[in-house]
Amino acid sequence: MNDKIQAIQSEIEAFVIADSAALEQFRIQFVGRKGRLAELFDGLKDVAADSRREVGQALNGLKNLAESKFASAQEEFAGADQSIEIPADLTLSDPLIQGSLHPLTLVRSRILEIFNRMGFSVSDGPEIETDFYNFTALNFPENHPAREMQDTFFIEKGQGEIQDDVLLRTHTSNVQIRLMQHAKPPFRSIMPGRVFRNEAISARAHCLFHQVEGLYVDKEVSFKDLKDTLYHFAKEMFGKDTKVRFRPSYFPFTEPSAEMDITCLLCKGDGCNVCKQAGWVEIAGAGMVDPNVLENVGIDSKEYSGFAFGMGIERITMLKYQIKDLRLFTENDVRFLRQFN
Ligand code: DAH
Repeated sequence: MNDKIQAIQSEIEAFVIADSAALEQFRIQFVGRKGRLAELFDGLKDVAADSRREVGQALNGLKNLAESKFASAQEEFAGADQSIEIPADLTLSDPLIQGSLHPLTLVRSRILEIFNRMGFSVSDGPEIETDFYNFTALNFPENHPAREMQDTFFIEKGQGEIQDDVLLRTHTSNVQIRLMQHAKPPFRSIMPGRVFRNEAISARAHCLFHQVEGLYVDKEVSFKDLKDTLYHFAKEMFGKDTKVRFRPSYFPFTEPSAEMDITCLLCKGDGCNVCKQAGWVEIAGAGMVDPNVLENVGIDSKEYSGFAFGMGIERITMLKYQIKDLRLFTENDVRFLRQFN
């Protein structure tokens, strides 16, 4: 009997359980109720009474050995089998590919970096705004058509009733007012953020986009300071060979007002559908802060002057990365997003 126990013990130890078929073989031979160990247990009754206890202990040891080897192999294969049963998620992107920053985030950081180096701090303001900060304090007269330049989303009071003094800001210029109300000049600040306009979504327009506002108020700030600042920005952002031009324009909150164009980077000035064949694209509105705006926030316009500008982050990103459709920014297609690192 002892020899048999020894022999089976060596067999159990040597048995290689490499797959689930081998596991089943092992179970039948050593663990199952009709297996070889069960046979030995049956033979126990024929063992001489004085050594039965000792042989019984040896058999139990053998049984434990077989069962624990079986249990650990079973655990291993059960795990493997389970993972095969979980249906694969075919929409999942490769988990080994690292995420990357959104192109708008990259460009916003770059804009902030360029202006930070020129001494501009960063300010923030609310996206849900009152008419006062979005329009009135910025010198948009009541019922003036300039308010319609920006199709505004108004907030509902409840039951569909429009509250026409609370709105989603149409530009980041509201932050200028909030900043000037709460600090004393000089200020030099840039204000990035989301803005909203009631526009149909297309390759060139969206109801949600991003702007960066800039404001510099001090004694004796001049139009030349404004031009130099934006000129430097354009060269840093788009490269030193970029050509820049300023065109007269109109904004209620600046006087004089201008728009800044750069040579279209998609067609290099030859004319394409992004620049509407002009060879130039507008990247910023700007001007000298209107004295009325300074007075609206309690700043003496005889002592202080300032310049302001606002630019669209999407527009700058499209030019920088040659992107022709604005909708790509919000579709979150990883094939698009992976290209920016
Ligand atoms: N708020 C203007 C817009 O959304 C952009 C702008 C133009 C901002 C001139 C300014 C500025 O600060 O001076 O179209």
